[in-house]
Order: sequence, then C-alpha cells, then structure tokens
Amino acid sequence: MSFSRNVLVACASLALVATALAAQDATGSPAQTPPPALNGYQPRWWKEAVVYQVYPRSFKDTNGDGIGDLKGITSELDYIQHLGVNVIWLSPHYDSPNADNGYDIRNYRKVMTEFGTMADFDELLKGIKQRNMKLVLDLVVNHSSDEHAWFVESRKSKDNPYRNYYIWRPAKNGKEPNNWTSFFSGSAWKLDPTTGEYYLHLFAEKQPDLNWDNPKVRHEVYDLMKFWLDKGVDGFRMDVIPFVSKDPAFPDFPANFNGRAEYIYAAGPHMHEYLQEMNREVLSKYDVMTVGEAFGVTLQETPLLVDERRHELNMIFNFDAVRLDQQNGRWRDWTLPELKAIYTRQDRGLDAHSWNTVFLSNHDNPRIVSAFGNDSAAYRVPSAKVLATMLLTLKGTPFVYQGDELGMTDYPFKSIEDFDDIAVKNGWKEYVLTRRVSAEDFLANMRKTSRDNARTPMQWDNSPNAGFTTAAKPWLAVNSNYPEVNARQAGEDPNSIYHYYRRLIDLRRRTPALVYGNYKDVDPAHPKVFAYTRTLGKDAYLVVLNFSSDAISYSLPAGLKAGRLETANLGNSEENTTTLHLKAWDGRVYRLAVSPSRAGIN
Ligand code: NOJ
Repeated sequence: MSFSRNVLVACASLALVATALAAQDATGSPAQTPPPALNGYQPRWWKEAVVYQVYPRSFKDTNGDGIGDLKGITSELDYIQHLGVNVIWLSPHYDSPNADNGYDIRNYRKVMTEFGTMADFDELLKGIKQRNMKLVLDLVVNHSSDEHAWFVESRKSKDNPYRNYYIWRPAKNGKEPNNWTSFFSGSAWKLDPTTGEYYLHLFAEKQPDLNWDNPKVRHEVYDLMKFWLDKGVDGFRMDVIPFVSKDPAFPDFPANFNGRAEYIYAAGPHMHEYLQEMNREVLSKYDVMTVGEAFGVTLQETPLLVDERRHELNMIFNFDAVRLDQQNGRWRDWTLPELKAIYTRQDRGLDAHSWNTVFLSNHDNPRIVSAFGNDSAAYRVPSAKVLATMLLTLKGTPFVYQGDELGMTDYPFKSIEDFDDIAVKNGWKEYVLTRRVSAEDFLANMRKTSRDNARTPMQWDNSPNAGFTTAAKPWLAVNSNYPEVNARQAGEDPNSIYHYYRRLIDLRRRTPALVYGNYKDVDPAHPKVFAYTRTLGKDAYLVVLNFSSDAISYSLPAGLKAGRLETANLGNSEENTTTLHLKAWDGRVYRLAVSPSRAGIN
C-alpha cells in the first residue's frame, strides 16, 4: 500500500473512530482520540508536503509588461502540479511600491497592480484547489511600506492616533537613538523632518518597523490574516517574524559585536507571547501551516517556537545551511562535513514534538546548483540531481524554489547596472562609492552572493526571453543559458532534472520512512560523500551522495549494506553490496539491506 493511501486509510478510519466517539460524547464519554503517531510524530499534512516557492515577479508574464503576474501563475498550475508538489508558497502579491519587490506592503488587502486584480487572485486560488494543492501566502508584518495609510498618518504628528503603530524615538545626543544598522546599509533609524523624531527600519527606509507592543497593531495583523484565511488560503510563511518583539531599551550593539545583527534584533522579550496570542486568535481556528523565517534564532531557541505543545509555529527556516557559503555578506568556501554537521545538529536539536524545514535556496539566496553543486556544463545536471536527492530525503518539509527543478544557475552579472536588488544598490553606495571596497571586489562578491541570482525570470522555452514575457525587456535580464535550460526541454527529456525531481517527490510521497523516519549521518567526516539512513521501524533507506567531481570507490561504514536501488541520478545498477563505485556527482537511494537494529542505526 502506498504511503499516501496508508495515511488516507489511517485518516479515514480515524474519522470513523471520531464519529463513534462523538456519538459517545452525547452520553458523557470522552471524545478526543489523537491520530496514531509515526515514530513519535503526529502525522500532519504539512509534514508530508513538498512546497514549491513562486516568486511572482519572475514566474510568468501574461500582459507583456515584463513583470510576472498572477494570471501567469494560473496558466502554469499544471506544470507545478505535474512536478508532484502539493503546496505553493507565494512571495508577496500585495499592493506595494516595490522598494523591496513586494516585501514593503502598502495595502495588505489589495493585489499589486503589476500582478493583477483580486479576481485574478481568486482564480489562482480556485485553480490551486481544483488540483488538490494548497496555497501559503507570505505574511510580511514586521514592517509595512512607508506608503501604507498607517504610516502616512503616523508620521503626521506626535499625537496622531496612528503614531504608536510604528517605532518613533527622539534623537540621542543629537544623533540616532542607537547604533543599529539596516540590513540594506546605513543606520536603522531615519529622521523624519515633520516631527523631528526618528523611526526604526531594520530594512529599507521605505520599510518602517511596526510596533507590535501596541495591541492595536497586533489585532490589525490578526484581522488581515483572517481576511486571507477566510478566502481559503492554507497558511503563511512569516517574514522575519522573530523581529516583531524588540528590546524596549534599544541598547547599542555590544562592544564585541560580530556583525550578525539578526541575533540582536530577533527574539525580543514578547516574541513567544505574541506568537501564542496570534495562534489563539487566528491560527488555531483554521487547519493551516505556518513557517517562520526565523532569521536570528539560534537552534537552542528553536523548540520554543515550533514545539507543538506551545502553540506558536509549525516550523521555521533555519539559515545555517543556506548561508554556509557566506560570512558577513561575503562568499566563503564551505566543506561537506560542515554541511553535514548542521543537519545533524538540527536533527538532534528537535524532538518528535517539533518539525523542521529543508531548503538550500529561495529568493534571497543564489541558485542551489551554483552555490552547493557544480554549475559547469559537465556537472550541472548530475549535481542538481544530487542536491534534489538530498532535499527530498532529509528530515523536514522540503521547499523547492522555482527554477531549481530546471537546474537554473546564477547570472553572470558584469556591472552594477545589471542588478535590481536594493541590497546591492545600497551596498554599492556604502562601499564602492566611498572607496572602501573596489568595484571589482564588490561585483565579484555579488556575483556569488546576490539575491538577484535567484530572481532572474523563469526559463520556460527557447523563444526570446525564455518565453517569460513578450516584452522586449523583462524587469531583470534572463540568463543567457535559456536555450538549453528551460521547462520545455526539461519536459521532453526523460533524464532531465525536472523529471528527476518528479521521481524523488513521488518516492517521498510513497515512503513514510523518508518523512517520519529517524535520520542518521553514517559517515560525518567523509570530505566528499554524504551518506545517511532514514529509518522507520523495519523500513530503512540508505542515501549516498557524492558531492564531488571525483570518482570514488566508497566502502560503506561497517554493518551497512546497500540493498535494492530505489533511485539513482546516473542510471547505476549496483545493488546488494557494501562497496559502491561512485562517479562524479553520483546520488543514490537504496533500501538498507541489513536490519536497522543489526546496523545499529535506530
Ligand atoms: C526577508 C525576505 O525574504 C526578503 O526578501 C526581504 O527583503 C526581507 N525579509 C524584508 O522583508
């Protein structure tokens, strides 16, 4: 019996049990029976989901203005569904002046004009539901746009009823209230001439931070969440959610500050209280999924956010893996044992009451194959498949970023004019124009780390601009490799990265051990091979991934034997063996041949 059927049958029988108990309830007997746990985990649809992130600006343009739109997403729902994913996370689609591509919201109840209308949104949601998929929206409520009506009012006078919706402070010794910096360069405070006070903006000047200590603000947020949930959306990805509670004393950075401002800004004194209130007021009333962008939250603090008994969030994004190749905004070389250690730490840091996410890319990070694989002509395809194998067999809900299923690569940026991102443009002003960093050095670093790498338009086919738009010029240039790297080519080639993702997603869906099974790294120190097991009772899998361009004769650690091959990216046929002859960027998923207890992996 397949996994999904198993779960369905379990749910169906639970529904029967529930009906019987409900009947008993009338006569005074207890009513609630929890679903049977798997490996200690309560089964939940969002634990079994595979999420696909759509960045609407770059997905598909249907009206020829060079900017993606909601109709474009609706027109490609079959493509998304065919991949096998069942949840779509939509980056912000709300009305915005686009200082930060929609992460600066002017009206939370209106669709961005460039993206379409509310009718287009409803059509999109309908299309998603018709295909038995779910939609998760981006909830960006640490800050709004400075063009939001609340801020327009707030800045008018010190006694405006909306003044306290934002964080205003007088100057300190004639300067900013403290020395905090914005993630987009410069001070995090901006002097507003109308009232002579500063407002806080941890991101762009046009993104003033909302004052969550004001209960009116929190209830405005809960109301707008209900507005979208009542339309039928299935949850939220919550933008920089740990920043909502700030230290009211606004102390300066500590003397020995290491530059990781997010660890200062996150997890203020009321964060848990506010999230529990949000859960009580809103989330608990719907069957939805929540994932917090937990920038600045340590692994030690994570269970406090995601332990189901605390009723805060379902899961968070932890950035240790995706940012392994960066340090203080600069690219750094990374090693495989470092990456493996992160996954082991995360696994050990969470028990069966908590849940994790797995991702190595999104709209804020370079392309997965360029950052963690090898995007050269020889290895782009096999390394993208190795990464896909890892994403879809680690423990946690996997998030696939649009275009990664095609093996889209970083963009060969040449000059500052090639970039759109406010982070890059402000960085250029702060570092290059002041001659603190040379233009060459800055651009070399941005080529490796810039968010724009992930934001170039989706490559649909080999027509001009990759079929993304009929406009002469898309909002951000298309990668010139689109004639080879595009969705049409991928669909027609049974060996494409896209079809490999499909097979892996299908395998995950059929295999409870790959969702709920124990995770164990069986060779943490190996510099090139990532080998791990996933075990659920007697059901055990062995994943072996060669993260290098070298051929490797790999002897499995003692007690382990590769059994039946479930999937392999290079068409291997080795089975029932303790030595694997791995080619460059070889990735395989086996049944484990020995019993888990004999191999000591339970
Ligand atoms: C995180 C988002 O992912 C990013 O794109 C944005 O710039 C910041 N939060 C500010 O909203």
